[in-house]
Amino acid sequence: MSASGRFDDQIALVTGATSGIGLELARQLAARGAKVVATGRDQGRLMALAPQVDLALTLDVLQDDSVQAATAAVQDRYGRLDLLINNAGVGLFQSWQDTSMADMRRIMDVNLFGAVRVTQAFLPGMVERGRGCVVNIASVAGERGYAKHTAYCASKHAMIGWSRGLQKDLKGSGVDVVIVCPPAVDTPFFGNAGFHDYKEKHPGLSMMSAGQVAEQTLQAALARKRQVILSPRAKTLWLLDKLVPPLVDGLQKLKDLR
Ligand SMILES: NC(=O)c1ccc[n+]([C@@H]2O[C@H](COP(=O)([O-])OP(=O)(O)OC[C@H]3O[C@@H](n4cnc5c(N)ncnc54)[C@H](OP(=O)(O)O)[C@@H]3O)[C@@H](O)[C@H]2O)c1
Repeated sequence: MSASGRFDDQIALVTGATSGIGLELARQLAARGAKVVATGRDQGRLMALAPQVDLALTLDVLQDDSVQAATAAVQDRYGRLDLLINNAGVGLFQSWQDTSMADMRRIMDVNLFGAVRVTQAFLPGMVERGRGCVVNIASVAGERGYAKHTAYCASKHAMIGWSRGLQKDLKGSGVDVVIVCPPAVDTPFFGNAGFHDYKEKHPGLSMMSAGQVAEQTLQAALARKRQVILSPRAKTLWLLDKLVPPLVDGLQKLKDLR
């Protein structure tokens, strides 16, 4: 596989393709030869994306009907799905005292159960054919705790746990599960979570671009990696946190690190 590997004739579905990382994933997959099914809820942004992909579909990961309709549409048009990227997700950045049970459920619903719902719909076909790849866009917040991120950390830790279980269940099936953990990425994510001045409040924080995340995610998918922590700094912090957690806590007090 070349460094900029191709996805020629692969049918690839991306959830949350109307913004940020998902939008870049859809564009880069199309540029690399995939037949891309770009999905999301926002009709205006879906229509704008439609000319760049093979199919633009409404898909709300919270709704059984919506997922069933998208699954049927993919089956009718292509008869299969080769690559599923569970990217749709939402953030919540507030203290534990301000995080209600309804907040917890909403974040878990989208970030965990949404990915589970879509995967359960497409996985049987992949297993039956004996090939396929599911990429789950988790986060470094699925590997470490962050202050004022309880709901989000819980949802991404859960996504990673579920993915690891799936990896075991699917061993030998020909279907791979790839876990991707980006650090902070410069997308509308923080604004969409109501944190409009995130960048201003974190002036020292270096962020990846959505394009970089998409590029590295697709490389991981081609290589069928089990899990990737994107960016060397995030990887170092992840490793240090496993070995000497107080050191990382101390470093984070000194500098805004992801
Ligand atoms: N940005 C970061 O710093 C960062 C870091 C690590 C991991 N991540 C993860 O990366 C993924 C993408 O985030 P992003 O930064 O690209 O954020 P974003 O720009 O806010 O995009 C989020 C996407 O999720 C979709 N979405 C939200 N609720 C949905 C639902 N119920 N059904 C279907 N789609 C839904 C949105 O589409 P519609 O509104 O059209 O439905 C949108 O396309 C998320 O899982 C996020 O947790 C982000």
